[in-house]
Amino acid sequence: MKIVSTVNEVREQVKAWKKEGLSVGLVPTMGYLHEGHASLMKKATEQCDKVVVSIFVNPMQFGPNEDLDSYPRDLDKDAALCESIGVNLIFHPEAEEMYSPQFCSYVDMNVLTEDLCGKSRPVHFRGVCTVCNKLFNIVQPNKAFFGQKDAQQLAIIKRMVEDLNMDLEIVGCPIIREEDGLAKSSRNTYLNEEERKAALVLSQSIFLGQKMAEDGETDAKKIIAAMTEKIETEPMARIDYVKVVDGLTMQPIDVIDRPIVTAIAVYINEKARLIDNFHYSPEMQ
Ligand code: PAF
Repeated sequence: MKIVSTVNEVREQVKAWKKEGLSVGLVPTMGYLHEGHASLMKKATEQCDKVVVSIFVNPMQFGPNEDLDSYPRDLDKDAALCESIGVNLIFHPEAEEMYSPQFCSYVDMNVLTEDLCGKSRPVHFRGVCTVCNKLFNIVQPNKAFFGQKDAQQLAIIKRMVEDLNMDLEIVGCPIIREEDGLAKSSRNTYLNEEERKAALVLSQSIFLGQKMAEDGETDAKKIIAAMTEKIETEPMARIDYVKVVDGLTMQPIDVIDRPIVTAIAVYINEKARLIDNFHYSPEMQ
């Protein structure tokens, strides 16, 4: 496995693979890899001949008061995990390699970015779309793999690829949870033991809402109310949002009569803002 830091090195390697007729999968990450990322990398190795993992804490997707500086980093541990899974190349650029001082081109989107995380993180999805577009142009993968834990991000990336005729397939992969239910996230490491326990209220409310939907509840307000009430039992939790949205447009809906995502964002002790969600489709029943 190679670790490279320049766009040219990636391009040369990918060109050589493509010459041999090999397919390329990309797993874009910000590092501090956990089992959620591992599941994306495994799927990529199953579906593609060669796998590139990008590790880049993208400054453009962090707002001024967010956790860019404290975001955890551990390249050696990440590289060991990538190697053990059979990743072929890690692209680990410095910010200067990705954004020259003259940089002034962005990918922007409306509708899908307006609610949920886009509301409380106004610059976030512009940064995500721009960096993913750059990574797609640099790596030119046949497929790119994203986790469903970031449900809004996944919907946005799929929309961008379709709207802008990008020539790759986006593969969504299921949420990976700890044994007790907490969705895996690099940000879980911000929490001490007590806060980590308090964070269980996220998955508990997700499971509660999911059961209500599966039992036939079609009134989104009732599901939101029950989930909100559950989260509010935890004194360390502060709700950013609890929403039921259309699975494609990410716009809030009142009646569950189509595929939906129910998504939550919750601050734990003001230390970590964690997200979780479930997908549900009436047709699944
Ligand atoms: O989900 C992430 O880790 C990031 O948003 C991504 C897709 C790697 C873009 O920086």
